[in-house]
Amino acid sequence: MTLFLAKMTASITASTVYLCCVFIVLFSVYADSQDTDAQLCQMCQGTVRQDSPVWDFCLTKGYIRGRCCFRNNTSNVDTIIGLDLANCSISHVEHLYNSSTAFIIDLSDNPVSNLSDFIFQGFNHLTQLLLPSKLECPGGNASWEKVEVKNNARVCEGQKNICNQTAQMPWDCPENSFCSPYGPGFFECSCLQNFHGYKCMREGEFPIAKVLGILTGSTVVVSSLLWFTQRRKAKNT
Ligand SMILES: *[C@@H]1O[C@H](CO)[C@@H](O)[C@H](O)[C@H]1NC(C)=O
Ligand SMILES: *[C@@H]1O[C@H](CO)[C@@H](O)[C@H](O)[C@H]1NC(C)=O
Ligand SMILES: *[C@@H]1O[C@H](CO)[C@@H](O)[C@H](O)[C@H]1NC(C)=O
Repeated sequence: MTLFLAKMTASITASTVYLCCVFIVLFSVYADSQDTDAQLCQMCQGTVRQDSPVWDFCLTKGYIRGRCCFRNNTSNVDTIIGLDLANCSISHVEHLYNSSTAFIIDLSDNPVSNLSDFIFQGFNHLTQLLLPSKLECPGGNASWEKVEVKNNARVCEGQKNICNQTAQMPWDCPENSFCSPYGPGFFECSCLQNFHGYKCMREGEFPIAKVLGILTGSTVVVSSLLWFTQRRKAKNT
């Protein structure tokens, strides 16, 4: 009897802990999105500037909260589709949090002296990016349909899909994999179904392995991260 009670207590405790964990996880997801809001949308004064490019974009596509434009939708997930951080006295950008869903980002009129291409890794939807005029577009001119300087801002327009370029690509995805865009100048190779591991050379049902590449200007830099990730994945399998 004592043993039985002890067991029951243990299982009740276990389920309480479990519920607690679920709650904590849910809460941290919630807190996370609040953080993002604070870190990104409230990081500089005011709201999206009236008549700015992000403002124009947001008029028909979403609603404004702070410096962000969110998609109008029925689910309760807030998706950032535009970001106006222009004239915010930002001198250093390290992270754009979960704004990789954005179609338009304005970082113009800021004293930023350099910007890593990696900040925009995974920003597949980005079709308009405004930067201080002295900065180059991420991925170089070759990654965009049009690059120009307008009102003291470098405007990078129309992200090119580098998987689509007909020229001989030395960065072709390995056999048994396919290429998909992964932000300006980036692409990823995902193993075809039934292939996995280093360079997708192994056969059999396994999780998708990814290979990342980057195009900078017209030079291809295959990041060292690439094979490392692959090797790690191969080891795990
Ligand atoms: C930048 O913001 C300041 C106030 O924070 C304002 O006085 C100034 O006119 C703004 N500049 C531009 C170009 O919008
Ligand atoms: C990219 O294009 C812009 C505008 O045409 C030009 O000013 C800039 O020098 C180009 N950059 C490179 C690295 O070719
Ligand atoms: C990419 O491929 C699509 C469909 O095959 C085509 O419509 C588009 O023009 C291509 N884009 C480039 C930049 O080659």
